Amino acid sequence: MSTGENLTTTTMKVALLYNEKPEVAGAALGRYASDQYAEWDNPETIAAVAEALRRGQHEVVMIDCHPARIVEIIQTLQQTKPDICFNIAEGAGALSREAQMPALCDLLGIKYTASDVMTLAITLDKARTKEILHYNHVPTPDFEVVETLSQLPGALSKTWILETLDAGKPVIIKPLHEGSSKGIFERSVVSSVAEAEAQVHEVLTVYRQPALIEVFLSGREFTVAMLGNGEDAEVLPIVELSFDHLPAGSKKIYSYEAKWLWDEPENPVEVFKCPAPLEPPLKENIERICKAAYRVLRCRDWSRIDVRLDAEGKPFVIEVNPLPGILPNPDEHSCFPMAARMAGMDYNQLINRVLDEALKRHGLA
Ligand SMILES: Nc1ncnc2c1ncn2[C@@H]1O[C@H](COP(=O)(O)OP(=O)(O)OP(=O)(O)O)[C@@H](O)[C@H]1O
Ligand SMILES: [Mg+2]
Repeated sequence: MSTGENLTTTTMKVALLYNEKPEVAGAALGRYASDQYAEWDNPETIAAVAEALRRGQHEVVMIDCHPARIVEIIQTLQQTKPDICFNIAEGAGALSREAQMPALCDLLGIKYTASDVMTLAITLDKARTKEILHYNHVPTPDFEVVETLSQLPGALSKTWILETLDAGKPVIIKPLHEGSSKGIFERSVVSSVAEAEAQVHEVLTVYRQPALIEVFLSGREFTVAMLGNGEDAEVLPIVELSFDHLPAGSKKIYSYEAKWLWDEPENPVEVFKCPAPLEPPLKENIERICKAAYRVLRCRDWSRIDVRLDAEGKPFVIEVNPLPGILPNPDEHSCFPMAARMAGMDYNQLINRVLDEALKRHGLA
């Protein structure tokens, strides 16, 4: 493995902004049995990112962005005056969560890696994201949003939903504002109005947020890691998610169960293929829609874009992740580091490349 040394030319003071997954979530309920903290990073990931930055010859200031430490966070940023923050903080508590630390950095006049406040807030609303994609002719599945229980009967009697279900095709129901497969279970793929009603009800009451009802795309699934900015934004080798090795009878989706419960380092489920075996026209088509999504949503430095094919093999963007998951242990099958490895970049090089992209963008390189 490369040491990551000489990856950048300038030594910087880099504040690493992160949220650490609390021990208690796993201890009480089994490793990841609760999805409450699914988005926050584990200590190994945080340590690996810090180590990568140090190996890139940077001075690293660690900043745990737990909301209870807000005063300390501001003091540390003001006292240490980092040249830039490396932002992997997922934030807490609201739709603003991924944008919270970037907003604070903007307020304090401190630069940071990855996307800005607006992109982070928009992409956490899957419907707003899809509206922007749709307006810009980037294919994304048809959808409906249900905000309150009182809207439920009207929403479910929409013609396209009834026609889809009548034709024997399922729809999928997801929380509007989550990531890391939170709230997306086997039971989220529904085939009847009654099942749809139960699922929307669960999203509205358990997750306390609107439910997104979306056309279920029955084809292959890919996730696409992107690095860089503007015309130079680069698509890394495409990762395919194949669901053949999930437990018999399970739904062909990357559900919470598939992501966090069934796939464990000691008992791995073969889900990923990288590079995805793709005919050139389909590969080019996927790359084209991902570059377009990245551009119209104004992603910065890096992002991971999820794509799925319909029954006819046409690709659609499902969602955009501007703070991609980056588990360092290859056995944990984290897609962005996997795509980077396939492109010849080890973990340290990937982290320093993201930093370099941000430094270049800010004119600090
Ligand atoms: N419209 C759809 N058609 C088919 N499958 C879908 C659709 N939307 C979501 N899925 C399945 O559900 C999974 C999770 O959905 P999605 O990517 O929207 O959630 P997420 O929690 O934001 O994911 P991430 O972990 O990437 O942040 C997808 O990987 C896919 O397998
Ligand atoms: Mg996803």
